This record gives sequence, C-alpha cells and structure tokens, in this order.
Amino acid sequence: QVADTLERLHGADSVDAVEAIRVEALGKQGWLSGLMKTLGKMTPEERQVEGPRIQGLRARVADAIADRKAVLEAAALEARLASEGIDLTLPAPAMPQGSVHPVSQVMDELAEIFADLGFAVATGPEIEDDWHNFTALNMAETHPARAMHDTFYFPDVDAEGRRMLLRTHTSPVQIRSMMKQGAPIRIIAPGRVYRSDSDATHTPMFHQVEGLVIDKDIHLGHLKWTLETFLKAFFEREDIVLRLRPSYFPFTEPSVEVDVGWKDENGRRVLGGDGDAPGHGWMELLGSGMVNRRVIEFAGLDPDEWQGFAFGVGVDRLAMLKYGMDDLRAFFDGDHRWLAHYGFSA
Ligand code: PHE
Repeated sequence: QVADTLERLHGADSVDAVEAIRVEALGKQGWLSGLMKTLGKMTPEERQVEGPRIQGLRARVADAIADRKAVLEAAALEARLASEGIDLTLPAPAMPQGSVHPVSQVMDELAEIFADLGFAVATGPEIEDDWHNFTALNMAETHPARAMHDTFYFPDVDAEGRRMLLRTHTSPVQIRSMMKQGAPIRIIAPGRVYRSDSDATHTPMFHQVEGLVIDKDIHLGHLKWTLETFLKAFFEREDIVLRLRPSYFPFTEPSVEVDVGWKDENGRRVLGGDGDAPGHGWMELLGSGMVNRRVIEFAGLDPDEWQGFAFGVGVDRLAMLKYGMDDLRAFFDGDHRWLAHYGFSA
C-alpha cells in the first residue's frame, strides 16, 4: 500500500489530488492511522518491532506528501507569475492624449507676439452691461447691433439700471482698461464673445483679441506698423501684404478694415488675387481704427491729450487661416480625430 500511495502521489497533478491521498492515508479513517491503532493491541515485544516500522512508513508517506505539495505549489506560482507578468520590452499601449486647442494655441501665440511689442494682457467680463458694450463705445440706442435678434440679453438689469448681456465683442475691455488704469495703455484682450448667429462660418460663441494703444501723438502709421509686424510674426512669413480699406465703426474714426494676402514661393499671389474688389482674393481679417475721441471721453480721459488706435481680430478665423482648417463648427465639437488631423494631438 505504501508503494501504491507513493506512485499515486507521483501522478497527482494538483494540490487537491495530493490532499485527497493524504486524507486516505493519514486522515482519521486513513489506512496508516488504522495501522497505528493496531499497535495498542500488540504485546510489548511485537510493538518494539512494529512501532518503529509503522512510524517509518508514516514518515515516508508524510514526507512524500509534503514534497509533492511543495512541487505543485511552486509550479502553480510559476504559472501565475508567467501569466500575470509584465513584459517591459513590449511597447506601451497608445493612450489618447489631450492637447492645447487651436484657439488657445493662437491666443497664447498672440500674447507672446504682443508681449515682444510691449503689450500686456487685459481681461473683462463675458457678462457685460450695455453701457460698456455699446454706449461707451459710441453705439447709439438705435444701432442695429443692439437689437434683440443680434445680442443675447439677460432679463435683469444691474444696480445702475444697465441691461446685462453677453458681450458681443472684446471692445468693452477698451473702456474698462482706460477707466481702470488711465493712460498710457498698451494691451491686448483675448476672450469669448457672443452673437445670435449660427451657420458654417458663424457660431453663437467665438473668440476675439482686442488691441488698444493709448498714448501721445499716436497716429494711423503706428496702427499699420503694429498690424504688419504682428501678422508677419503670426503667419511666420515676411511676404505678407496688407490692404487697408476705409470702413466704419462707431468707436473708431477713421476706421480701417484690414485684408491680408501673400505670395507663394514662385512669387504668385496666393491670397490677394489680382482683382482689388473687396472679397476677391483678399482675406478680410480684422477691424481697426483710431479710437474715437468720444470713446476716450466716455472712459474719462482727455481726447486732446490722449490718442490711440484699436483693433479687433477673430481668433477662430486666424486659427483657420494658419492651420488650413475649413469648418468653424469643428472647433467646438471636441473631436480628437479632428485635432489629430491638424497635428494637435500628442
Ligand atoms: N469690435 C469690432 C467687431 O467686433 C472690431 C473692432 C475692434 C473694430 C476695435 C475697430 C476697433 O467687429
């Protein structure tokens, strides 16, 4: 029976199988335990012979069980380590990563470019009142932009009886900056603006960067140089051509609409075309002008002492131009694939 037990132990392939054999042999009802009990009925002489023999058998069987168990347990551990092991030589799985949004990227770039020209960054509230957004910017009560269907109004008024609204441009930051810090001023003001407008080229929320310089003896030449310098740095090319067209904004006088164009490597005009008609070839880029003296007055400064220029540029449009993006609405979809397509995903 010992030989049989040892052979079966050898063939046992699990800890459970070994345990079954142990119970069969060394359990309360086991055959070895039974053998041990026979000792009690023996004469002392018999016991002297049989005792050591049975103890020897028991020890052999117990040792064999312990050995087999150890082997099986080691194998099980080995298998588990192998299956759960981490292979450090494998490439790491790709993790989807976020990135800076093109709009934020452009705003950061503008902040850097203008910092080099001595401009600080200013901000104002997106929830504005109609005095800062319209009145102080010389926009009359009858100005069409003030209409309900162009501007998002809140039902309430503030403590001074001003109607609250979502600012329609970043120009109210001009007023807030002049009133807060006085003159001279050199700031840009990036931020979100809102208009009741929605199609392939208009979203109800979009982004602008406002620029404002207030100082002594500022003239149109300063405006032109600043815009040219900024656009060359932004588009990273020297062959930028600007076209300044007379325009109208209530808060600037004179007002200038700025179109941009440039030539390709062969000297051909890529944007800009040959025709000089508005909209033909030229990309309409921003509105600007000399700050209207009435605006300087509204903001509490003396227009005979201080002059300046201002401009407002659409950030989303700048990003589309620089990165060749064609649908404005994709800016606000939060689609990783769109970002990756334009090289914005890590
Ligand atoms: N606020 C104007 C707009 O949103 C742009 C502008 C800013 C024009 C400053 C002139 C001066 O269209």
